[in-house]
Amino acid sequence: INFPSLPTDAKHPDGSPALNRHSHTITRGHDFPGARAMLYAAGVPDKEAMAKSPHVGIASVWWEGNPCNMHLMDLAKTVKKSVLEQEMLGWQYNTIGVSDAITMGSEGMRFSLQTREVIADSIETVTCAQYHDACIAIPGCDKNMPGVVMGMARHNRPSIMIYGGTIGIGYSEHLRKPINVSTCFEAAGAYAYGTLRQPDDGGDQTKSQDEIMDDLERHACPGAGACGGMFTANTMATAIESMGLSLPGSSSTPAESPSKMRECVRAADAIKVCLEKNIRPRDLLTKRSFENALVMTMALGGSTNGVLHFLAMARTAGVDLTLDDIQRVSNKIPFIANLSPSGKYYMADLYEIGGVPSVQKLLIAAGLLDGDIPTVTGKTLAENVASFPSLAEGQDLIRPLDNPIKASGHLQILRGNLAPGGSVAKITGKEGLRFVGKARVFDKEHCLNDALNEGRIPRGENLVIIVRYEGPKGGPGMPEQLKASAALMGAKLTNVALITDGRYSGASHGFIVGHIVPEAAVGGPIALVRDGDVVTIDAETNSLSMDVSDEELQERRRQWTPPSPQITRGVLAKYARLVSDASQGAMTDLF
Ligand code: FES
Ligand code: MG
Repeated sequence: INFPSLPTDAKHPDGSPALNRHSHTITRGHDFPGARAMLYAAGVPDKEAMAKSPHVGIASVWWEGNPCNMHLMDLAKTVKKSVLEQEMLGWQYNTIGVSDAITMGSEGMRFSLQTREVIADSIETVTCAQYHDACIAIPGCDKNMPGVVMGMARHNRPSIMIYGGTIGIGYSEHLRKPINVSTCFEAAGAYAYGTLRQPDDGGDQTKSQDEIMDDLERHACPGAGACGGMFTANTMATAIESMGLSLPGSSSTPAESPSKMRECVRAADAIKVCLEKNIRPRDLLTKRSFENALVMTMALGGSTNGVLHFLAMARTAGVDLTLDDIQRVSNKIPFIANLSPSGKYYMADLYEIGGVPSVQKLLIAAGLLDGDIPTVTGKTLAENVASFPSLAEGQDLIRPLDNPIKASGHLQILRGNLAPGGSVAKITGKEGLRFVGKARVFDKEHCLNDALNEGRIPRGENLVIIVRYEGPKGGPGMPEQLKASAALMGAKLTNVALITDGRYSGASHGFIVGHIVPEAAVGGPIALVRDGDVVTIDAETNSLSMDVSDEELQERRRQWTPPSPQITRGVLAKYARLVSDASQGAMTDLF
């Protein structure tokens, strides 16, 4: 670890701790009169504030045109007001972000994962260049959360994350049931196979398939907030709260609830505590806290993307976390949450029965979650959740630990001659633990999407669909394959498993294996599979293999030529050049 760092025990001449230990470099005396002149112009009220007030950067990942992020400017303004009331200086700024549900299609989705790096780069840059003493980050959509935490770990100045919050629950007039954005994706599969309208679905049978799709699209997202299931955004927010980097309840408080605004006010108090006690991100990002992140992810059935992000966050913070740790935690933690995408409830429902702190309380009491880790409140995790209620009586969202949905975690690390460097499977047990089928190979996801849209994937014999050249370097950008997995679910193609060197959306479920290392673009064995090869996915032996002899693979390798990169300039070309493999978190500052 070699990040820029400044003294942490600075004192004012009167002996009081200098909470402005970084900004003091440019505000003390008249060493940098130009900087002081600029700061007065920007709003520093007087000499006293110039001498003593800490500078708090308020980094929102705000932009319009996406429910996960469109309200974050309002949260940031509330934070700023509260920071000023605490006699600190608040400086709002923004990072870019993109929507994981809008960046669909083969062009847009390539840009998604690399935004995590751009967000981290932005926060590191502004915090260090502007001499901020602390950072309050307000992310919303998937990649935002690991991005802001990686930025915090790099600058390592007192920091708090305020999650933008989960969206409310949509309701379909036709289906007469709660829906969310993934209902739309899954409906697309049924639409392609002409089965969207079912005689027994309770809906208006005079409606056409197009009218039903319109109904779903118009009602799936009822306002501001990140996708409501246990998809990537809620996975990351829950994990990060369980690592102590956000205030208790942040991850389950809905975006549009008054509690979210109260959290913004409380964050100003908390950042002052962090400054006074000099609680810094790398004090909180420890092996123990990552263990907590993994425990919550397994218990609640979180997204495969979490694996990638935990590895990247850990490496940024200098914590030794590997795929083996993920498997070890998965082996011991029961999956207990009836949450979308595999279950029926949403994060807004969990909020109603006590929220994430109530689940943490349950897991701390059972000795599964470490309640002794420090947090941004200056108290331990157990102290933070002590005042929260236990899970409500009679609820059926969180199962008792002795009667889980699955006795161990749903995330499985598979290795074998198809993935010698590892891969990540999401297996909730509903689909069974083993799948054997004949390979059907697609170079690039759009080729599979075309086949699905045209109903060309047959029912009947077991197929393992392989989508390759979609890894971090190959995509480039390791695009998510929500469309394929959702369409297969929607079309009820239960004879199909999906494997890829790319990623799956947190909204995906079914028999899926992603993050295959090494990826096809660098000559990983996934590049050598041919149509008809027998592929076995086994979550009991944790293997992913093809029934092809070593000699035959060697012969195929002799015939293989690496593809020439399709993108040679711009942000994706830079990304492809720098990015590590998925088993190292697909990060760009690992040299
Ligand atoms: Fe933003 Fe799902 S698209 S959280
Ligand atoms: Mg996503």
